[in-house]
Order: sequence, then structure tokens, then C-alpha cells
Amino acid sequence: MTTESTAAPRPYHDVPGPRGLPLIGVARDLLRDPFTLFEEITAAHGGLVRLPIPGQKTFLLSDPELIKFALLDNTGVVTKPVPLLERVDIALGKGLVTSVGETWRRNRRIINPVFARDRIQRLEPTIQAAARDTVDRWRGAAEIDLRSEMARTMLELVLEGLFSGSPLATSKFDQIAESLMVLLRFVTRLFMAAIPYDLYLPTPVRLRALWHRRRIDRIIDEMIEHRAEGGEADILSQLVDARDPETGAALSRSEVLDEARTAFLAGYETTATALFFAFLLLSRHPAAREEVEAELDRVLGGRMPTVADLAELPYTMQVFHETLRLYPSAWVIGRALAKPATLGGYRLPAGAQLHVSPWATHRSARNWPDPLRFDPSRFAPENRGAIHKFAYIPFGGGARKCIGTHLALLEGPMLLAGIAQHFRVDEEPGQTLRLGGGVAIDVLAGTRFRVTPRGG
Ligand code: HEM
Repeated sequence: MTTESTAAPRPYHDVPGPRGLPLIGVARDLLRDPFTLFEEITAAHGGLVRLPIPGQKTFLLSDPELIKFALLDNTGVVTKPVPLLERVDIALGKGLVTSVGETWRRNRRIINPVFARDRIQRLEPTIQAAARDTVDRWRGAAEIDLRSEMARTMLELVLEGLFSGSPLATSKFDQIAESLMVLLRFVTRLFMAAIPYDLYLPTPVRLRALWHRRRIDRIIDEMIEHRAEGGEADILSQLVDARDPETGAALSRSEVLDEARTAFLAGYETTATALFFAFLLLSRHPAAREEVEAELDRVLGGRMPTVADLAELPYTMQVFHETLRLYPSAWVIGRALAKPATLGGYRLPAGAQLHVSPWATHRSARNWPDPLRFDPSRFAPENRGAIHKFAYIPFGGGARKCIGTHLALLEGPMLLAGIAQHFRVDEEPGQTLRLGGGVAIDVLAGTRFRVTPRGG
């Protein structure tokens, strides 16, 4: 398998890259600040970079053509990286994110319709309610922690959207929130660990995470048992009712549990993170914020946005896309080579780890002019055609593209519009934004914001 048909490929150790430190290579930088590392080495070495990490053959991809190869391959050369999946698996279980092969293909076929655009639109009232609750919560507040506020908004939305806000889900809100946080922290810890001890040893952190996973499972299981009457709009009910279009088979009880837990974890943190950065960027770019506000005032005039309104809010949509370009919540997508392959003129061995990085790709001057400048007009209809499909990959691409893409592009902009028309959100001065690596970008510091109501 090859990405080009030129002369004899060069050996993989010729792939350009940083030298790193003796013995540890870039392992320490990768743990401390993968964002700066990825940005700098992409600028210095190009679209295919060798990452010196002891015991690994790891490559960072930001060239859109190489990414296209990695994400579209359906010949079995490129796979999901099993060691990384094992790290996520322990918290997430065997849902779509972590399964491979025939199991994944079958389950994706069954679940695809649940997240199709027309079905997802039924969540309109749920999204509106989450925006309204946020606005109500902020009345009378002067300062907020924007990160936890967006997490709370998304948690309410996900609970309501998954479980129709059944009395059981509502009464267990705090328990679910706590268990979800513990699991997400655990996944982040495993994802970023140089040596993931918790995978092999019964460490206290592992035991605690498994206890919380069981607690979430018990709650979801009870909800399957007592599915809300008329709750056919919620995702849990649709997972139970979904049938394989080829065989008519349904998901088993444990598969429904795995997929519900996966949808919960994959959909919640990613969208909350995107909303955090959308407000952050608007607070740093007053002209763009004024343009968003003018659009919201003109189209909505104070009422909550509907799904249909989004077509009338092109600038707000562009802001959301530009946010996902500069701060793609899923900042790295893991792949591995099952067989040797030629990429960018180099022969990479079987077992090579490929880090397809939306972060590095979106911030490379090779792919985007003046890449660090916030400019929503990049996504204006007249400019969109010029964007390489694999230079903008916040939701990945190919067969394993995010199943929640339509949902994220509905709930994200609707929440942004519903909240931004009522409140201005400004970064408190004197704090520094600090990011950490996780499955989604983790915001470690710089989350305090002032909220100011906008006229009435
Ligand atoms: C802004 C929000 C979101 C971002 C940036 C995002 C990003 C991504 C990316 C990059 C992938 C591909 C991973 C890969 O190829 O290995 C992915 C997969 C996935 N996402 Fe999302 N996601 C978002 C929201 C959601 C939502 C709302 C849901 C659902 C409830 C969801 C569920 C999933 C699932 C189940 C997969 C695995 C799909 C598969 O492998 O078949 N995501 N997401």
C-alpha cells in the first residue's frame, strides 16, 4: 500500500523529526504539553514527522493527503491502535469507539440511523431547555467557571437526550455526574500515561473507576428496564429499538449498555470543550462577538433558536467551525499500521503508530494561511470550497468519522446562540489559559469568566 508511486521509498528512520533527549526522546514533552510540541515540530519538519519515543515507531501526520490515506484506508493496512484502545476500553467498554472489525461494522450499521440528521432534530426541545437552564442559572451571577458551566449544560442535555429526563435520571443526576467525571479523569490518566500501570494492576485509581463504571451501568440498566413512556425520542430507547438493516437483529442488552455509556462519554466532554472555546474566542475577538450578537438579535429577537434557525445563522455557524479548527476537542486520532506502507515517500513498518492530529493539521501554515488567526470567514460559503477535506478534520473522516457529527453541529451552535444572545462572557484578566492532553483537550487553568446580561 502506498500514497504515491514515485521512486524507491526511503527507510522510516529518515523521516524528519526532532531529536529529543537521550533515552526519553520527546516522551516528557508529549506528557507535559503535547500541543506546543505538535505545533512546533509540524512547523519545523512538515506533514509527516517522526516522534522519538523509546520503544515505539510513532509518526505525526498533518499532511491532508497522508491523513486521507490513514482515515480512508479500507484494505486492512491501517487499523485503530490496539494498545491505545485497551486504555480507553477499561472505562468505556466495547462500544463503537473501541470496537474493531466485524463487531464494529455491524454495530455501526445498526446505530447509524439513531444519529441521522432527521432523528437528531427531535432533540430540539431538549437543546433549547439546556440553553434556557444555563441562562437562568447565570442570572444574578457575576463570575462563573466557564468550563464547569459548559460541562453542567452538556450533562443536562445528554441526560435528557439519552433518557428523556426520566425521573430516575433526574434523581440520580449528581451520581451520574460524579461517576462520569471519575471515568473521564481515568481515561485521561490512562491515555496520557507513559506506562499505564492501572491497566495491569489493581491500583486504587483503577478500582475506584471500575466502581463508578458499575454504578453508571446499574443506572442505565434500570433505565432500560423502566423506559419512559413515550420516550421514543431519546437515544437509549432508539438504541433498544434499533435493528440491523441486513439481518433484523437487535443489539443485546450489554451492547446497548456499552453504546449508551460510549455516547455519554464521547458526546459530553467534546461538545462542552468546544463551547468553552467558542466563548473564549468570542471574548478575545470583540468585533466577531458583535457580529454574532447582531445576527442573533436580527434572527431570534430574544427567543430560543430552533433547528430551522441555524440556516439563518451562518456567521454563528462559522464561529463554531472556526472554534473547532483552532481548538479541535479531539486533538489526536490514533491509527496504526497492520502492514508495512509507504507514506510520503517513506517505508513505514507494520506496528507503526500514526498520530493523525487535528490540532497540528489545523494549525499548520502548510494547510491554512495565517493559521493562528481567528477568522470565521474561512468557513463562509464562498471560501469553503477551497478547504481540503482532510485539512479540516474535527470529526475525523472515512468510515469511522464521528457518529455524533450532526448532533454536535446542532447542539453546539444552538447552545452558543441561545446563551450568547442573553449574556456576554468575558475572560477575567490576570489568568493564563493552560491546556492538558486527554481524550479531549483538557482545560487546566484560565476558566474564570465575567458574565454580563445583554439588555433585558
Ligand atoms: C464537538 C464535538 C465532537 C467532536 C470534536 C468529536 C470528535 C470525534 C472524532 C475525531 C472521532 C473519530 C475518532 C477516530 O476516528 O478514531 C469521533 C468518533 C466518535 N464520536 Fe465524536 N465528537 C464529537 C461529538 C460527539 C457526539 C455528540 C457523540 C454522540 C453521542 C459522539 C460519538 C462518537 C462515537 C460513538 C465515535 C466512534 C465512531 C466510530 O468509530 O464508529 N461524538 N468523534
